[in-house]
Amino acid sequence: MLGIGAIIGTGIFVLTAEAAQKAGPGMMVSFVIAAIVCALAALAYAELASMVPVSGSAYTYTYAVLGEMLAWTVGWALILEYAVAAGAVAVGWSGYVNGLLNAANVGLPEFLQAGPLNGGGFNLLAFSISLLVTMLLVFGTSKSAWVNSILVVIKISALIAFVVVAVPAADSGNFTPFTPTGWGSPMGGIGILGAAASIFFAYVGFDAVSTAAEETKNPNRNIPIGLIGSLAVCTVFYLLVGYGAVGAAGAQPLMDASGVAMEPGSAAFVAACKGSEALVCSEEPLAHVLRSLNQGWLGWAVGMAASLALPSVILMMIFGQTRIFS
Ligand code: ALA
Repeated sequence: MLGIGAIIGTGIFVLTAEAAQKAGPGMMVSFVIAAIVCALAALAYAELASMVPVSGSAYTYTYAVLGEMLAWTVGWALILEYAVAAGAVAVGWSGYVNGLLNAANVGLPEFLQAGPLNGGGFNLLAFSISLLVTMLLVFGTSKSAWVNSILVVIKISALIAFVVVAVPAADSGNFTPFTPTGWGSPMGGIGILGAAASIFFAYVGFDAVSTAAEETKNPNRNIPIGLIGSLAVCTVFYLLVGYGAVGAAGAQPLMDASGVAMEPGSAAFVAACKGSEALVCSEEPLAHVLRSLNQGWLGWAVGMAASLALPSVILMMIFGQTRIFS
């Protein structure tokens, strides 16, 4: 539950559209590539976690094997990972909830809807959810684990509902051309490898399991099961969701006049997306697919489930953070 709570988040609910713009239907291959990279890391984590079953994750392993200097570097890298991921998900979540509040005409003042680098002044909701989650963690691991389990059940139910509706609606015509943008570069940008780099974010978090070794019964056995099990469950869901999204709604990238796929987020892409109903333009791609299948209420329910459950990622990231600090 801890692993799945940390893994399934903004990545699958939001980044699917960006991956589709970069790779078209070939994003399914990107999901597999990112999963293989994470599985190799998870296997290494599992081996080390069973040898050094104390909290602190990669920091502790590096300390045990390579000494304090490298461990210090790894520890700070982990702190950055958890802080950046928690921050990114908190900001993503606030965007979603602000959208809902604005639609209901009870929106916050614009100054409080986004941070200074995002056209606002202070992101009140991102700040509040991070504070709330931290307070929950202060109450203790068992209460946090209980809340996390509920949120995980909500997230998984949303993905199951999506898969049950979208996969049977898949149309084989939507899979051609399968790789409209080719392989591209793993450093990012357009192409299957570029999409894999984006999708990697959707898998980030499995390592949070290993930070909890000290609170785990029989960690030598259970930490590897938690690491690899949560990654395996999420990979299966992601592949099914990717297949359903491509098959049911089509996922061809928007091309410029010379036939080259536009960079997601670029000015040209934003302009081309104005008024477009394409999946690659959607900020809530899973709900978008369901709406295109005339399942508007289910799309709304999946959107609600995502906004309710995304804080579990923040919870697990900040949980991991405290274990690295201590
Ligand atoms: N894997 C996490 C997410 O997608 C960080 O939100």
